[in-house]
Amino acid sequence: MKGIILAGGKGTRLRPLTIITCKQLLPVYDKPMIYYPINTLVTSGIKDILIIIAPEYSGHFLNLLGSGKEFGARFSYAIQDEPRGLADAFIVGEDFIDNDNVTLILGDNIFEKDFSTEIGSFKSGGMVFAKKVSDPERFGVVEFDKKMKATKIVEKPKDPKSDYAVVGLYVYDKNVVKNAKNLKPSDRREIEITDLNNLYLKEDNLKVNIFDGIWEDAGDFDSLLRVSNYMAGKAARIKG
Ligand code: TTP
Repeated sequence: MKGIILAGGKGTRLRPLTIITCKQLLPVYDKPMIYYPINTLVTSGIKDILIIIAPEYSGHFLNLLGSGKEFGARFSYAIQDEPRGLADAFIVGEDFIDNDNVTLILGDNIFEKDFSTEIGSFKSGGMVFAKKVSDPERFGVVEFDKKMKATKIVEKPKDPKSDYAVVGLYVYDKNVVKNAKNLKPSDRREIEITDLNNLYLKEDNLKVNIFDGIWEDAGDFDSLLRVSNYMAGKAARIKG
């Protein structure tokens, strides 16, 4: 299993901070944001990691993260010239993925969960995680049938049919590269990971795991502050 951290994008919701740096280098309490997704992959047993970054601040990532040795991992880097969407990670990462399975984590998603059991037992197809949230309209939302079997995922619905959001960690087999290449850009001119997941769902090839751990998408000011406060509280409890 290989890992990809998607850490490019525009970060428009965090302007003006993201005019002078990029979102994943901003602090979450006492660490740069990207340390958290790195830690999630490494604790889930993934050591071979591709970090996808935008050209503007690529040197900052190299200075900060280096070879990955400090994290007990091996880092490679790739530039995404334009933010073409989350599913573009598999096109940018084609050579890196090669013939292996791959876990994608979004560079602004912060988890407190060990995914090693689910990732360790992954065989083929796709696997996503869904969490009950109070603001599903911000995310890809899972629709279920009466037996709680996932039937469809809808990207940022105005009228969500469930409270279950797809979180920013996704696992696929090597076919993901081919599948991502077949996606058509959406109205916002991105290739959408929700379309990719619906493709797997249609083929009855997507496992949707419900999970209950800590998860924050730190992409706007409120969530960034919330997760920083959470981490500060946790550090204070550890210090006693
Ligand atoms: P988003 O938060 O969806 O997008 P963004 O970071 O550009 O922010 P905003 O909506 O405020 O403009 O992205 C989720 C993660 O994926 C984040 O780590 C940035 C990354 N990303 C890319 O690396 N490339 C892309 O093409 C996109 C869309 C996102």
